[in-house]
This record gives sequence, C-alpha cells and structure tokens, in this order.
Amino acid sequence: MNVYLDNNATTAVAPEVTEAMMPFFRDRWGNPSSMHRFGGSVAHEVEVARERVAALLGAHPNEIVFTSCGTESDNAAIRGALARLPDRRHIVTTKVEHPAVRTTCRWLRGQGCPLTELGVDSKGRLDLDDLAAAITDNTAIVSVMWANNETGAIFPVERIAEICKSKGVLFHCDAVQVAGKIPIDLSRTRVDLLAISGHKLHAPKGVGVLYIRRGTKVSPLIMGGHQERGRRAGTENVPYIVGLGRACELAMETMAEENVRVRAMRDRLEAGLLERCPGAVVNGDPAHRLPNTTNVSFEYVEGEAILLLMDQVGIAASSGSACTSGSLEPSHVLRAMGVPFTCAHGSIRFSLSRYNTEAEVDYTLEQIPRVIHRLREISPYVTSERSNASRAQAGA
Ligand SMILES: Cc1ncc(COP(=O)(O)O)c(C=O)c1O
Repeated sequence: MNVYLDNNATTAVAPEVTEAMMPFFRDRWGNPSSMHRFGGSVAHEVEVARERVAALLGAHPNEIVFTSCGTESDNAAIRGALARLPDRRHIVTTKVEHPAVRTTCRWLRGQGCPLTELGVDSKGRLDLDDLAAAITDNTAIVSVMWANNETGAIFPVERIAEICKSKGVLFHCDAVQVAGKIPIDLSRTRVDLLAISGHKLHAPKGVGVLYIRRGTKVSPLIMGGHQERGRRAGTENVPYIVGLGRACELAMETMAEENVRVRAMRDRLEAGLLERCPGAVVNGDPAHRLPNTTNVSFEYVEGEAILLLMDQVGIAASSGSACTSGSLEPSHVLRAMGVPFTCAHGSIRFSLSRYNTEAEVDYTLEQIPRVIHRLREISPYVTSERSNASRAQAGA
C-alpha cells in the first residue's frame, strides 16, 4: 500500500483541476494581453479564476495578484512594502516562519533593516503583548504566518491584525498552509498582505497569489510589462491560474465536510501512535491546530531513519530535521519551542488531505510502531540508557 501523508509539503493535483487546465495547453494558448479574441477569451478565464480565488479569501478580485509561488508572494509582500516606506525600516516577525519569510527578513536585516524575531512558547504560541511591545515608530511591517507548516499551530491572526492596525503598521501574513484547509475571510480580518500557494491546495506547483488589500502601497518585485495591473510583470501562466481558480472553487465546496473527516482521521492516527509507541509526544498547540497536521516526536530515534523505514513500507511523511552540511539539524521551529534535542531529532510531521482514507490510517498505525520498535532496538541512546540502567541495577 502507498500512503501519502506529506500534504503540507505538496498535494496531489485534483482531477477536476487537471481537467480545467487542459484546454489551455491544447487549444486556448493565447496571450491574455493580446487585442484579438484568441487572447481576449483567455484573459476572461484569468479573471474568472481571480474571482474564485477572491471568493475563497473573502477578498475583492482587484486585490488578487497571481505570482509563481508562495515564496514569491512572501518576497513581493515584504520587500515590496518596505520599498514604499523608506522612512520606516524595522521588521517584526517570528522565530518559526517558513524560510520564504525568514530568509527574506534576514536578508533585509543585512540591507540595514532592524529585525525582531519573536519567540514562541513550548506549544508554539506567540505572546501578543511581546508582539505589541516590539512595534516601534520605525516599524514598517509585521510578518506572522497564519499556521505553521511543521506543527500546524494556528496563530491568532485576527488579534494580530487588530494590534497592527492600532499601531499603524502593515501586517503581512503567510497563509500558504491555511488556504483551503480552514476558512479565511479577509473582509473581516484586517490583513494588508497575504500569501498563498497553489500546490498546497490541490493545484499545481508554480502558481501562487499575493493578496494586496485595496489602498496598500507595494512596489512590484518583478518589473516589466503591465500585467496584473502593474503589480507583477510577466505573461500570465494561464493554465495554472485557471487550475488554481478551480482548486479554490473545489476547496470552498468541500472544506466544511472534508475538514471533519480529515480531522477525525488525523486524531485517530495521532491517538493510535501515542498509544502504540511508548515515549511518543505531540509537538505544538493541540487546541489551535490545522485539522490535517500532527507533529509527533519519537524519543531516541532519528527522524531520517524513521522516514527511510517508512518509505520502505510505502508511507510518505516529513521529518523535523534538515540535512545541513552533512549533519542533521533539528528544525528551527522545534528549537524555538524548546523541544529537547532527543525529541526534536525524532520528530515526524504527518499531514493529511481529503484524498486519504481510513484504510490508510489503519495501515500506518500497523506499520509505524514496528518501525519505531526496530529503530529503538538499535538506537545508541536507548542502548546506552539500558546499560546505564542495568549498571545501576547491578550496583544496587
Ligand atoms: C508556510 C509556508 N510558506 C511558504 C511556503 C513556500 O511556498 P512555495 O512552495 O509555493 O514557494 C511554504 C511551502 O512549504 C510554506 O509551508
């Protein structure tokens, strides 16, 4: 059996999305900027897609700018906003952002923009008093993600938006992991700039969206032609934009029902792992979490080894460690939460989608405890703990 539990990394393109895109590869390959009908009719489809994206976000279609990915949207938001606020340089963000925001903010620090990276508590929660206190007269922008890609922890975006508004600073939100998973209503939540990415909600890789609230001034990151009303130059990726529009429409139709089903499968998977794998713990805030994500640490085993053995039995997930220059570094998110080294190393992120089934959860619950048992048998930590224990027993 093959079980894909890595949907926060990328998702399967929905068959309805592929179907919607196909005519734009085969017959309708016109340029939306052309004056003739061959291009003009395609431009109309781009606008239909824009309306669908806007509907999913509770936004106006004019506030939607198509980009190439979530990373581009994050870059365009933060760098574009700073370019229009030369008198304010300070950026406030968190220690648990995705590299799309983290690296961008750190690069800007190198360009002379003071940077505050707010810490989180052991559940991955932000202290909003700290956030408010970090904002100064020099602050240009606050960039805080809606939900964390590793733990699924959801930040209180409405309250963050209120703080930013009351302090008169821009609020950028990376909602890449949120769009299509939980409702977003930008008519009620005062976010100024927001990023989403097609491939996290069953559209293809290579298309994203930057939402720019009406009236927010942002310089374009990519300059050139007049596309996207001058906010993002480059001939539009029509098939992918159409696909993203369809994916947003599907998300709106299915989200309420699918969330209940996905959450129930996630909870059953999580409870089963905790029960069957002694020493397993869940990382992140269980009360405020995406319905599809669980991040579980299996103490004294390495995440990469778990992933390899899982892969051998057909199960795909992600580990919380990244291979940096040959050594396994625990994730910056788990480090910021103060997860102990022995746990952070053995952390696995399971992320589900509407395409997962109960039978797949059963299979995973059957296989993973075996994988963990096998690895614990050969773990140097466990072996040394055991010999310490037996030495202590012998001495007693
Ligand atoms: C929270 C978050 N932000 C940004 C990105 C980057 O999106 P993309 O892969 O479309 O560049 C990701 C991708 O994993 C993500 O999880």
